Amino acid sequence: MKVIIDSSKNIASRAADLYEEVLNRKPDAVLGFATGSTPLELYAELIARVQNKRISFQNVTTFNLDEYVGLEPTHNQSYRYFMDHNLFQSIDLDPAKVHIPSGLKIGQEELDAYEAAIAACGGIDMQLLGIGRNGHIGFNEPGTPFGALTHKVRLTESTIEANSRFFATKDEVPKEAVTMGIRTVMNARRLILIALGDSKAEIVAKTVNGPVTEEVPASVLQLHPDAYIFADEEAAKYL
Ligand code: F6R
Repeated sequence: MKVIIDSSKNIASRAADLYEEVLNRKPDAVLGFATGSTPLELYAELIARVQNKRISFQNVTTFNLDEYVGLEPTHNQSYRYFMDHNLFQSIDLDPAKVHIPSGLKIGQEELDAYEAAIAACGGIDMQLLGIGRNGHIGFNEPGTPFGALTHKVRLTESTIEANSRFFATKDEVPKEAVTMGIRTVMNARRLILIALGDSKAEIVAKTVNGPVTEEVPASVLQLHPDAYIFADEEAAKYL
């Protein structure tokens, strides 16, 4: 793992440099995106670089990590809505090349189809990840087998609690989600995990220096041949 400690502003710019490098090398790259607070500065930087004509997403295909079960794509807390509003609407991406798991059609057939779509595009070149305070990546909560592919999950109490900040009440937070599995994530040729803030410090230390264990899903990144972990000073304080 390549661990990089820097300010959140510099992390956004250094992570954007990795996108620029991939897109220069492969304009039709397959990119995996994440939602949450963490990638917002990076997305703003990617939008700025598209506007400055430094990069283009014209030929890019995207796959998102996850989606809540039961939310319409138009729901303002769905991950589809998040991506449209925080990135996709502001870059030159072809909407036909965007893939986000459906939170409404969640049968095994749809889950398998998501994996098949990734495979049909030749696999993911670079997957972006945030990290949950409990070490989840995507919505792969502690205890998820490392071999899991795209699947439906029950969210843990700690994740529901953490995500309730975006909903009017905790009761409104969906209890289930569809997520790429750990194996899906690990199959990506490059991983970029970003961790910001004090609340991530303990789990970042376990991820980087602890044992590789299904109890800390992000610890699996230690086994990936090309994984970057970007942490700000607060998130890196126990490293
Ligand atoms: C989001 C996702 C989650 C988040 C994680 C951190 O698509 O898969 O694993 O990355 O919960 O969320 P934030 O960035 O809001 O702290």
